[in-house]
Amino acid sequence: MHLPDIIIAIDGYSSTGKSSFAKIIAKEFSFLYLDSGALYRGVTLFAIENGLIADDDTINVPELEKGLENLDLRFSTEGTCIGDRCIENEIRSLAVAGKVSPIATVPEVRNYVDKKLREFGQKKRIVMDGRDIGTTVFPDAELKIFMTADPLIRAQRRADEMQAKGMEADLQDVLKNLQERDYIDSHRETSPLTQAPDAVVLDNSHMSMGDQMEWIKGIISERFGC
Ligand code: CDP
Repeated sequence: MHLPDIIIAIDGYSSTGKSSFAKIIAKEFSFLYLDSGALYRGVTLFAIENGLIADDDTINVPELEKGLENLDLRFSTEGTCIGDRCIENEIRSLAVAGKVSPIATVPEVRNYVDKKLREFGQKKRIVMDGRDIGTTVFPDAELKIFMTADPLIRAQRRADEMQAKGMEADLQDVLKNLQERDYIDSHRETSPLTQAPDAVVLDNSHMSMGDQMEWIKGIISERFGC
């Protein structure tokens, strides 16, 4: 199966397996995979380390905006980095997960991330996952998928993933975090999480990765005749 030069946008709720699915799609079709959430998480780590977000989630927006001017957040072969410092593990912690959704409501943060993401889209042949890829970042993406799954199943998957990496993960804490993020992400003013009208919905509560691949290959062959 050879895909034409398109953009595949995968949006959806927290911990629905968007990134695992996107990575496998990228491998199968020789596309570049880009994790937009990693950039929001990177900005959040920066805000935490610089004391720009209080315990009650109040954000020092003017200072954060200034900080973004010189923040060299990027993807490297090691993962997400700030300059030469790899932050891939730190950005996956619950400490960062607990603050990322408030940070992602800040329009200046969204502009900063969107600009980086759109640069990658110029050459097409990318799979990008996030919350607003098919609605805001690439509204003309040729294939849009909206992922959802039962919250408890999602929390269990995320807790397993964290524990496998040696991180602490209490199922109830993880569930609470993902429900909070879903709420904030869906209700923010700027680019809320919402299904694009032309997106196809994938509820993978009871699907294996193999099932998902079969599903997407069906859609691809129908739509692109390959
Ligand atoms: O944990 P999960 O993989 O579901 O989330 P993520 O993709 O790493 O994204 C972390 C957070 O970043 C989300 O909960 C959103 O608050 C924010 N985000 C966003 O607002 N827009 C995006 N395109 C991607 C992520």
